[in-house]
Parts: sequence; C-alpha cells; structure tokens
Amino acid sequence: SNARFTLDPAFTVGEVNPRLFGSFVEHLGRCVYTGIFEPDHPSADEAGLRTDVLELVRELGVTAVRYPGGNFVSGYRWEDSVGPAEERPRRLDLAWRSTETNRFGLSEFMAFLGKIGPQAEPMMAVNLGTRGVAEALELQEYANHPAGTALSDRRIAHGDKDPFGIRLWCLGNEMDGPWQTGHKTAEEYGRLAAETARAMRQIDPGLELVACGSSSQAMPTFATWEATVLQEAYDLVDHISLHAYYEEIDGDRDSFLASAVDMESFIENVVATCDHVGARLKSKKRIQLSFDEWNVWYMKRFEAENTANPLDWPEAPRLLEDNYSVTDAVVFGSLLIALLRHADRVTVACLAQLVNVIAPIMTEPGGPAWRQTTFFPFAQASRYGRGEVLDVRADSPTYRTAAYGEVPLLHATAVRDKDTGAVTVFAVNRSQSDPLPLRIALTGLDVTHVEEHSVLSDADPEARNTLAEPERVVPHAGEGAVLAGGVLDVTLEPLSWNVIRLA
Ligand code: AHR
Repeated sequence: SNARFTLDPAFTVGEVNPRLFGSFVEHLGRCVYTGIFEPDHPSADEAGLRTDVLELVRELGVTAVRYPGGNFVSGYRWEDSVGPAEERPRRLDLAWRSTETNRFGLSEFMAFLGKIGPQAEPMMAVNLGTRGVAEALELQEYANHPAGTALSDRRIAHGDKDPFGIRLWCLGNEMDGPWQTGHKTAEEYGRLAAETARAMRQIDPGLELVACGSSSQAMPTFATWEATVLQEAYDLVDHISLHAYYEEIDGDRDSFLASAVDMESFIENVVATCDHVGARLKSKKRIQLSFDEWNVWYMKRFEAENTANPLDWPEAPRLLEDNYSVTDAVVFGSLLIALLRHADRVTVACLAQLVNVIAPIMTEPGGPAWRQTTFFPFAQASRYGRGEVLDVRADSPTYRTAAYGEVPLLHATAVRDKDTGAVTVFAVNRSQSDPLPLRIALTGLDVTHVEEHSVLSDADPEARNTLAEPERVVPHAGEGAVLAGGVLDVTLEPLSWNVIRLA
C-alpha cells in the first residue's frame, strides 16, 4: 500500500539553524594527522593542510566544527598546543592510548576553519575532566581577549594578532561516562559546569555554552543526569548535549534501519526533561539541544579489537576507520531526517567525525582522499535542508522490528526555502525488499515541477567506496516522480535515501 502526507506552509516545525550541519574534529587516530593536516602531502598548503581534504570538506557543507574532543579533551592541556611547533611537548593521550605530538593545535585549527570558508564556526570544548574553572578561563582569555593581558599578548606573540572570537563552547565531554578521564557524578559535574559557565560569562556574557548531557539514551543515569545538571546550571547554559551512535547488532538489519526511532525518542525525552526543570524553576527560558555527536559507528567491533590489543602509545594510529555501506548511508540519512524533524529544539548537531575517524571523508597518507557513502546524504541535506521545516505527519505502511516494534516504512521530512519557495523532501524507504509508492498532497505551496529526484540505493546494499574503488557508490537520478494538480507521486526504491526537489 501507499505512504502519504500533506505539505502546507501553514504547518511548520521551525527554522533550520545552519549549525545543524556541524561536524567534529578530535585528536583521535588519523582525524587530524594525515587527515586534515599532513605537511608532506603533495596537496598540502603552506600551513600543512591537505587541500584535497579541504575541497571535500567545503563540498560536504560543514558549518560548526567541534574541537579538540571528545574523550581527548578530558586530558587536554591547551597551552601545549600553542606557540612554536618545535617547542610543543609530546604527551600521553589517555583517552586513545596514543602519543599526542601537539604539532597541530588551536592556531592551526582556526586556520583550517578559515580555509573552509565563512560558514565554518568553531565549537571549542574545555577540559572539565582533569581540569577546571581556571584553565577554562585561561583558554578563553588566550583565544578571545583582544590584547593587553598576559595570555592575549601571548597569542599575539605566537602570530595570531586578531582574537579568535569563539562564541560556542562545550563544558567538558561525556562527563557521565565511567570511561571519561575525570568522570563525575551528576551533582559534581552540575556544580562544576555551573561555576565554569558563571566565570566564563564574567569575561563575556554573550558566550553560548553547552552542558554535557548523556552519552546515550541507554546510560543508566539518563534523564536524572540532565535534570540534576540543569537544576544547577539552567540559567547559565544555553544547550544540553546529546550523543548517539548506531550499528547493526547480531545481523538484525530491520532494527538497524529503524535507528532514528531511538534518536527521535532521545530528543523528545531530553526536551521533556529540560522543560520539566524549566517548569520547576518557573523559568521562561528554553534550553536548546546540541546533538554534538551522532553517526553510524561499529562500536562493538572497535571495543573487541581494542580490548584484545590495547594500543602502546602510537602516533596517529588507524582507529575507528569504519567503511560505510549503502545500508549505513540510508540509516545515516534517516538520522539526518530525525534531526531536521526536531529543528525547533535541536539547534546544533555535529556529525562525529569529519575525516578518517567514523567519517564521511577518508584519506591515505601521501595518497588520495575520497567520499564514503555517508558523504552524499550529508552534503545534500546541508545544501538543500536550509529554511523552514514543514510539519510532516505521514501515514505509512509499517514493518516489524525486534528493537522498536511496528515501525513506519517511510521516514521523511521537508524543508522550504523561504526566499524562493522551493521545497525539498528528504525520504527514506526502510524496506529491504519492496518499493514504496508515496503520494504527497501540496497545499498553499508555490511549486510546479520536480527539479530533481536523487536516490542513493544499490542492488548490493553492502556496496562501499574504498581506496581501490572510491566511486563505486554515488547517487543516481530517480525515475517516474510526477507533480500534477498539486499532487506528487513517486516510488521510493527499496532501502533508499531520496532527495526530491520541488520548484
Ligand atoms: O567520537 C568518538 C568518541 O565517542 C568521542 O571521543 C567520545 O566523546 C564518544 O564516546
């Protein structure tokens, strides 16, 4: 049977914040070293940045970039990463049992963002694992104060005359996780986050601050953690973070394809928790959600390998270099749809991560850079998912999953460009075997034709792009989409990600 919904500009979810298309650069594996930064690479510029990677990052359409971690940040000594490169100390990175050379640091990161273009914005994390209020303030002074103090003058002496102007800051990373260096209880973290936020605002009240929420909805402290932290920090922070990674478990592909069911419930449960605290505090303020780590990640494989062979402090080892299939890209697209469907409250999101480490872009040291399957849904969503999200309430046939019960085969959202009136529908068909006919009724919209129907699917759902075959998977044009008399009829291929542009 058919899936159907109605689009009407009178019924909207909210405006898409460009920060929804953020990403994440952590000092982990080869994300930085031989990923974005490789001075000996034939494509490297004067700053040691790989221009082949920069080009792909621009094409990906990345906005906010979170840095420098992740788990790495909980042992981060920011001052090691600035000043003359040859004088920077080598340090143990406890999070990934690697050696950090500090050859790439804050100044290099800011130069990297500048070269992506004006849409790129830093999202800087402070260390609340091994450190606290004082070091956060020092980093803020070094980065943002114009001149005339010890730390701002040190930045100028290091060659960065202009302050970096970093507005968006994360107060630590995954402090609820026992794996985190300096892990804390919700009470301990809530107090530290509140006092760090208060002090940072003494320098600059205009900062936007993100408190750590839960590392996943499955954490035993989920929701209590958020409520406890916000009870302390509600008036002092703007966002609470969410992290989620999905993978196929025990060959249960049907449940894997429904991963966005978990992501949407996670978002809705965090909204409910934030608003509950707001109600208790009699506050009119609404806390925004920063989904600052999300992706498909074969975490179980990583944990098994890592437990069997713990690393012996190598430099830039190959870690978390997942190679994504077409199936992974369809799930990934569905996660993007989940974020867009909640654009009223999710105002920051970061795809974890950007290069080599669970990433849409892969590189070989000294060799090429290429796009994984997940590159395409992200680039298309960032390019066409700008404007106002229309409220999509779909009627869809369902299928049975072990993890989530009955789940709609269709997962969809639509975004309207307010200037041109153009509408883009993003849709996933979760069926592994059957095409899904979809009818969309359009009312009050000024669109007359299908500009493009782009499809990511493959006869082999395991198909992937690799070093040997970097363009094995690319989107293709869909067939048969017709818009007539205010009704769009289209058939979605089995296990497919679809971008339907109406103008
Ligand atoms: O993105 C990889 C890791 O996942 C991050 O370092 C951490 O924050 C999360 O557990």
